Amino acid sequence: MNKFSLLMSAAAISTIVLPTATFADGTVEVLHWWTSGGEAKAVGELKSSFEAQGGTWIDSPIAGGGGDAAMTALRARVVAGNPPTAVQLKGPGIQEWAIEGSLNDVDDVAKAENWDAVLPPVLAAIMKYEGKYVAAPVNIHRVDWIWANPEVLAKVGVTEVPTNWDEFNAVADKLLAAGITPLAHGGQPWQDATVFEVVALGIGGADFYRDALVNLDQAALASDTMVKTFDQLRKLRGYVDQGFSGRDWNLATAMIMNGQAAFQIMGDWAKGEFLAAGKAPGKDFLCAPAPGGAFVLNSDSFTFFKVEGEDQLKGQQVLASLIMSPGFQETFNLAKGSIPARTDVALDKFDSCAVKSHEDLTAAIAANSLVPSMAHEMAVSRTVRGEIMDVVTNFFNSNMSSADGVQALASAVKRVQ
Ligand code: BGC
Repeated sequence: MNKFSLLMSAAAISTIVLPTATFADGTVEVLHWWTSGGEAKAVGELKSSFEAQGGTWIDSPIAGGGGDAAMTALRARVVAGNPPTAVQLKGPGIQEWAIEGSLNDVDDVAKAENWDAVLPPVLAAIMKYEGKYVAAPVNIHRVDWIWANPEVLAKVGVTEVPTNWDEFNAVADKLLAAGITPLAHGGQPWQDATVFEVVALGIGGADFYRDALVNLDQAALASDTMVKTFDQLRKLRGYVDQGFSGRDWNLATAMIMNGQAAFQIMGDWAKGEFLAAGKAPGKDFLCAPAPGGAFVLNSDSFTFFKVEGEDQLKGQQVLASLIMSPGFQETFNLAKGSIPARTDVALDKFDSCAVKSHEDLTAAIAANSLVPSMAHEMAVSRTVRGEIMDVVTNFFNSNMSSADGVQALASAVKRVQ
């Protein structure tokens, strides 16, 4: 037998022997809020990849866009002394649970796989507590998008998504005059907050956004720029249909698909819905960055709670490694509407919206205009976010003046700081 065939037979043996050895078992109960069409498809990829490695997946979905219901359920589980193995959690929430002593770290996996070298530093910092990885990121979602139905826009002679709010209002007025609902929106606090932060960015730019919604600077919160932000929010209130109250975000996306409305202001999980329904970007729907020339960051990640038993501990390690594997990051994000968290995954199979997201992310990092999402729990504590959401929702659903809205916002934040 020559050297080559020896090597070949060694490889053949290892392919026969290794599968049993490398097949990971382990069990994970995974708490998440991915229940819409696109979301379920994406989390299904995680489940089937985990099971393909020999693991047991117990699914614990808690419906409710934005994850507020899931976070309430999580708190109850932890208080009862029965936390899930892995939880979809993000931003400062990761630190809050780590400080409470509720999380296991997965730093051995992260070191062995050199996560530091493949994650953008801004994301790696969010995933770590006291220098150790306690979370694994699945993606990078962009919040500041406008989605549009090109056929609906064509009815009023418009071919492109507006690039500033004045232009947006002009097109929306034309749509209204033609009897078309300009804005598909779901009146739930997190959706109101999503629209609010996107508008704040477009009116004031990245520095204003950061001062007001990340650093919680009183001068920025009470500024004229914030008054203008509320003015624009009031305008948008006039562009939604009668049935907006309480509507789920994916039903608002469906309104764009079905030609019942022209625009939706939502993160790129909306693209996951379009794709799951077989719609193509540039043809059936348009994606365009919302005004602001920046990038509002939202990254989903999984944390690993303190659980008992070898099986679950092993499950945590296997899941962490799987989440960060390049192949999974590609498959998952193709379904989810986001882009990979890893910087070394090629985007060849991704569509033009994802490529634009990646380009703008790179530019925003260079220009220091990457800002974390307040509405999606990347920027401030849940308490502060809750106060901001209350004010924004009250404003949206009342006749409050912008000046009063701004006053309420600044004092609410002050109260909980
Ligand atoms: C999450 C997305 C999710 C969306 C709607 C966001 O906060 O980051 O993954 O699709 O909420 O549920």
